[in-house]
Amino acid sequence: MRVDGKPYRTIWVEDDGWSVGIIDQTLLPHDFVTCRLLSMEDAARAIADMLVRGAPLIGATAAYGVCLAMREDASDENLAYAYDTLFATRPTAVNLSWALDDMRKHLSDVPVGDRVATAYKRAAEICNEDVAISESIGRHGLDLVQALAAHKPAGEPVNILTHCNAGWLATVDWGTATAPIYMAHEAGIPVHVWVDETRPRNQGASLTAWELGQHGIPHTLITDNAGGHLMQHGLVDMCIVGTDRTTAQGDVCNKIGTYLKALAAQDNGVPFYVALPSTTIDWQAGNGVADIPIEQRSGEEVSHISGADEHGARKVIRISPSDTPIRNDAFDVTPARLVTGLITERGLVDANRTALAAAFPDLSDS
Ligand code: MRU
Repeated sequence: MRVDGKPYRTIWVEDDGWSVGIIDQTLLPHDFVTCRLLSMEDAARAIADMLVRGAPLIGATAAYGVCLAMREDASDENLAYAYDTLFATRPTAVNLSWALDDMRKHLSDVPVGDRVATAYKRAAEICNEDVAISESIGRHGLDLVQALAAHKPAGEPVNILTHCNAGWLATVDWGTATAPIYMAHEAGIPVHVWVDETRPRNQGASLTAWELGQHGIPHTLITDNAGGHLMQHGLVDMCIVGTDRTTAQGDVCNKIGTYLKALAAQDNGVPFYVALPSTTIDWQAGNGVADIPIEQRSGEEVSHISGADEHGARKVIRISPSDTPIRNDAFDVTPARLVTGLITERGLVDANRTALAAAFPDLSDS
């Protein structure tokens, strides 16, 4: 997608042929800064500190983390060390273990001397596959947006509510929840996006609003608590969110607050779609509430808020008493019964075990 008109992916190999470029997402929307990952430890830090975030991009960064580890030492021991270090960065997005398993599978039987080249080749494939998957999600989601647009008075936009950032910044390109939005916009279908700010880290306010703005997509930032109210007033035609882990029975784990949006959507008859690549499905997990590890993050994300002052200087300020106890669950689970449909690279799939297994027979038995 474009930044100031220039096409970017969220991760790339630099001109030196080995170091890995990323966008430091902690600085957006105030500063667009790219940086280079030079070691596996850099990659692990970038994931843990959320310079990169979003399930598919976490997976892609981990894949390149393995490449950087192999450059330093391509032994079995270092492969295992890199796997464990990268695996420990963030617990909820299953794309992380998917990418690490995939890299290990591709490297294990390869002679040590060939591992660097094999690793970079496979990491590039993972990225290209992610882009193709997101494009496909976009095409399938576009059909849904088109169908809603057909029932709108001419020129009136389809109002889409989204939570967190499941945009191109969360994937390698296009995004999952945003891919149908970008494609609808390109197809000339009027769309308008309600962007949940997404406390505590405000990925909606800082990332989704920024990337939609870069592409000229009409959007409005709202507080996290506004969605239900807007739905009651007929101002939301559909919700599309992303997911960090989807279980084999169609339960969806996504950024904290997603569940409340799904409840409000059901109460108001608003379709609630989840856009996901198959790499986000955890075929071993059944009941999402019981089976998915929920990341617990620092209380500082809740007690403090960061931004820029009117001169552009970055500021972090406290918003709660210094001794207030804090709990910060980063994700929640939306049960399959609240999900209207899963927008996957293979089309719209009902959120249940039978439909998922039928859509992905090659993956569901693995
Ligand atoms: O904590 P984050 O910013 O990594 O959480 C991201 C989300 O919850 C996204 O909605 C999810 O990863 C889907 S990304 C296509």
